[in-house]
Amino acid sequence: MVDVLLGLQWGDEGKGKIVDYFAGKYDVIARFQGGPNAGHTLYINDQKVVLHTIPSGVFHKNTVNLIGNGVVLDPVTFRHECDEVTALGVDLKKNLFIAERTHIIVPTHRALDKASEMAKGHEKIGSTLKGIGPAYMDKTGRNGLRVGDVLQPDFKERYEKLKQKHLHLLAGYDFQEDISEWESAFFAAVDFLRQMNIVNGEYFLNEKLKAGQQVLAEGAQGSMLDVDFGTYPFVTSSSTISAGVCTGLGIAPKWIREVIGVTKAYCTRVGSGPFPTELHDATGEKLREIGREFGATTGRPRRCGWIDLVALDYTCMLSGVTQLVMTKSDVLDAFDEVYACTAYQVNGQQTRQMPFQLTNGDIKPVWEKYKGWSDEAAAKSKQYNELPAEMKTFVTAVEAYLNVPVKYVSNGPGRDQILEK
Ligand code: GDP
Ligand code: IMO
Ligand code: MG
Repeated sequence: MVDVLLGLQWGDEGKGKIVDYFAGKYDVIARFQGGPNAGHTLYINDQKVVLHTIPSGVFHKNTVNLIGNGVVLDPVTFRHECDEVTALGVDLKKNLFIAERTHIIVPTHRALDKASEMAKGHEKIGSTLKGIGPAYMDKTGRNGLRVGDVLQPDFKERYEKLKQKHLHLLAGYDFQEDISEWESAFFAAVDFLRQMNIVNGEYFLNEKLKAGQQVLAEGAQGSMLDVDFGTYPFVTSSSTISAGVCTGLGIAPKWIREVIGVTKAYCTRVGSGPFPTELHDATGEKLREIGREFGATTGRPRRCGWIDLVALDYTCMLSGVTQLVMTKSDVLDAFDEVYACTAYQVNGQQTRQMPFQLTNGDIKPVWEKYKGWSDEAAAKSKQYNELPAEMKTFVTAVEAYLNVPVKYVSNGPGRDQILEK
């Protein structure tokens, strides 16, 4: 069967850490969407590792990892990542597989991403500039190159054709950067990619499923960045909800069992776009400082605010979430009062539904206040029952609102800092 693990907010919920925690129970960990815009942080023997394209099960000997067809892969960042993981003693030839239908990010995709963002000025999306949007545009526009193509004799020709198309597009922008160096690194990385295990991802997975193996599908980004249901146009270009698992891996819905939703005990967003519970005050800064809220991929400061139950209820609905993992509970140790948004006030009317257009100006959160707890009480707990009563009250309130059980509470970045409820 396939369990799905995905982020329910605007990304960076701590998915990487949680996948690493669960990975030992699964035969396969498979990424189904996104690309190097993702930054999933893991601590392996106290060493911090940030994965962008490689699934977060890679440090488990008996688990294999698949980069699914729904992912967009940049050979250059992929190669760097492989070097880093290999240096930590992982044999990627044994435990990493790449679906041949996975689309490739070429240097001119990154250039187009940058040029398009620059042209948008103050309306920019705040993209990670990794070429994600342009690569998915070429996929749906039926111009893309796929990982399987690197094994074909006409790869260079097809690359040149795509590059020419991109250069025409770039001519319409004020983009001056010399990308010739990007190209030599790209071809060296394509040579590296050819040596990796390139497989037919859909048969690879379905045969394992038929043989009774267990698969965990690892989401990237978060549900509120979904191309259909997120805060469009301030979204990424892929389906980040559970529906994306079927198309991003080539498996049927009948295989899906649990949908594990990961949420922080508060909320963050990096990049532009509406964020109703954002705090522009000292409390927001305190969340950022104590939660160390700086992007794992770009280093940008993350915008911070209290947990948004309206948005979580919406994203639990979209993905059919069956259980929750609440991360960063230790960060709330530092607050005398904790808040949750339980409704939106939209033009004077209260609603618990996500509006079509979430613009900050029109929407005010309705707050529920919770009593805080004493210093480091959550961080120091070794079992769920040891958590302070006030924290448990907060967790129970979240469960009751969402009607989904919280099964785990994470109380630190470390591999074993997680409490089963
Ligand atoms: P992802 O993109 O969802 O995998 O999340 P990121 O790795 O981008 O960001 C999550 C950050 O929070 C990382 O720095 C993690 O090491 C850290 N983290 C994860 N869980 C916890 C937790 O329970 N408490 C604290 N304090 N940090 C955590
Ligand atoms: P993980 O997997 C947080 C955001 C960007 C930007 C928007 C579009 O680590 O949770 P893109 O590069 O896709 O064109 O950017 O989406 N974004 C993320 N925010 N975590 C991520 O991934 C993100 N991936 C993209 O900041 O606002
Ligand atoms: Mg991240």
